[in-house]
Amino acid sequence: MDAMLKATGTAGVVAEETLDPVDWAGVQALSHRIVDDAVDYLRDVRERPVWQDMPEEVKAFFAAPLPRSPQPLAQVYGEVVEKVMAYPMGNIHPRFWSWYMGSSNFTGALGDFLAAIQGSNLGGGNPAAALMDSQVVDWCKQMMGFPQSASGTLVSGGSMANIIGLTVARNVKAGIDVREHGVAAIDKPLRFYGSDQLHSCHRKAMEALGLGNQALRRIPSDAGLRIDIDALRAAIAEDRKAGFQPACVIGTAGTVNTGAIDDLRALAELAAQENLWFHVDGCIGALIAIAPENSHRVAGIERAHSIALDPHKWLHAPFEVGCALIRDAASHRNTFAVTPEYLESTPRGLASGQWLHDYGLQTSRGFRALKVWMALKEHGIEKFGRLIDQNIAQGHYLSTLIEAEPLLELVAPPNINIVCFRYRGDRLTSEALKALNTEIMLRLQEEGIAVLSDTTVHGQHCLRVAINNHRTRREDLDLLVREIVRLGREISRPGVALPSPLVGEGGREAAG
Ligand SMILES: Cc1ncc(COP(=O)(O)O)c(C=O)c1O
Repeated sequence: MDAMLKATGTAGVVAEETLDPVDWAGVQALSHRIVDDAVDYLRDVRERPVWQDMPEEVKAFFAAPLPRSPQPLAQVYGEVVEKVMAYPMGNIHPRFWSWYMGSSNFTGALGDFLAAIQGSNLGGGNPAAALMDSQVVDWCKQMMGFPQSASGTLVSGGSMANIIGLTVARNVKAGIDVREHGVAAIDKPLRFYGSDQLHSCHRKAMEALGLGNQALRRIPSDAGLRIDIDALRAAIAEDRKAGFQPACVIGTAGTVNTGAIDDLRALAELAAQENLWFHVDGCIGALIAIAPENSHRVAGIERAHSIALDPHKWLHAPFEVGCALIRDAASHRNTFAVTPEYLESTPRGLASGQWLHDYGLQTSRGFRALKVWMALKEHGIEKFGRLIDQNIAQGHYLSTLIEAEPLLELVAPPNINIVCFRYRGDRLTSEALKALNTEIMLRLQEEGIAVLSDTTVHGQHCLRVAINNHRTRREDLDLLVREIVRLGREISRPGVALPSPLVGEGGREAAG
C-alpha cells in the first residue's frame, strides 16, 4: 500500500471519486422505502390492471437524451415508480396467461438484489457463489433424474440452454474436430430432427451453429401434436440414403402452442437405435418431473443426452435463468472450455475454483443461482411440484368451463396447463372468426382484465391461455370465461363498429 501511495506521489491531493453514496444514512432510508414500496406493489398486484398502455408523455420520457449532470437518487426512483413500475408487462399478475412466462416471486427478487450487492462474477473462481451455482445445477440434475456425474450450466434462459445442448450434440456427432476446423469440414451434412411444433429458438440455434435452418427437419406431429415417431423414423432413413448424417433428435416436453409432450421414452429408444443424440427441450415441461400427479407425462426425460429447462418459468425465478444439463460432462467441457493464460487456475486462492465459463459461451456470468437457491430453500421442492400440479389442474378446470359454455369451443384437447379455444361464430368465415377472437384478446388486455395470446392449432386460429402462474385462482378463470362471453357478445352485436375482416359475409349476426 505504501508503495502504491509513493508511486502516485499525490495521494490525499487528487479528488478521487466513487459511485458509493456520500450520505449512507440517506441511502439506507430510501432503500427501506423502496423495499416497503416493493412489498406493497407485489401484495396489491391483484388490484391493478394486468396491463395498461402508456400515455404519450410516458413514451416520450424514454426519448430523453443521455444524462450528463447528476440527479438525486430519490428523484430517479420517483421517475422509476411513475414511468416504469406503473406500466409492467403484467406477468406477475394472477390473470397473466400470455406466451409462456413465470410469475416471479419476492424471495427470488431479494436473491437478485443480494447477488447484485455481492457482485460476484460467476465466470468461476473460488467464491461461495460459485459453489452455489454448481449446487443449483446439481439440484436441477436431481429434479430431472440425471446422474451425479452429469454436468450443466445456468444460462440466460431456455433459448440459450437449448443452444448449449445442441452445440454439444453437433460437436459430438460431427465426426471431426468442429472447434478446430469448423462446420465446412464436416464430411456429410448433419441433420437434426424435431416436430413441426418446435419452438423458434431451435431455428436460431441451427443458424448460430452454422448448420442452417434446413439442417433442422420438422417432422409432422400427430393428432395430439406430438412428434409422429414413424414419420421420424422414415425421415432418418431417407436422409441416410440421401447422404446426410442424422445427428440429433429434439424431443419437446411441453410445446409452446399446446403443451403437447412428445413420447420421450419412444424417442430415447429410437435415438439409441439410430445412434442419435437425444436432446429434450423441456423449457415448459421438464419440471413436471417434480410434480407428483403429473410426473408420468415426462417419463423418459431422464434418458436424454441433454436437457434444456427453465427455472424462470415453472420455478417462477425472476428473469433470467435457464439451465442446460449434459449427461456426459466431458463432452460438455470439451465443447466450450478454453484456457487463456489470464484465466489459468492457481493451486490456491481465488483462481483455484472451477472455471464455470468452461461450460458455455459467456465469460462473465451473473450470480443467477442465488434467486433460485433461496426460493427452493424457503419453500422446498415439494411445494413447487404441487404448484405445477395446481396449474395443470387449473388448465383442466378452464377446459371444462369452456366445454360447458355454448359460445366457446376448445380447439385442442386439454393437455397440461395450456388451453386453446375460441369464441364460436358458426357462420363466420375463418378470417372473421380470427378478427373477432383477436378483438376479444385485445380488449381483455386494454381493459386490464387478463392477458392471453393467440395461435393457430390444426389450421384454426384460437385464443391461448398458458397458466404458468402461482397466483392464479379458479375464480380468475371463471371471470375470464364470463368476460370473454361478454366481450364476444358486445363485439358481434349489430351496429357495433368492428374491425374490417368482421364485416361482410353476413358475419355479424352469426357471431353471437
Ligand atoms: C418450448 C420452448 N422452448 C424454448 C423456449 C425459449 O425459452 P426462453 O424464452 O427462456 O429463452 C420457450 C419459451 O417459451 C419454449 O416455450
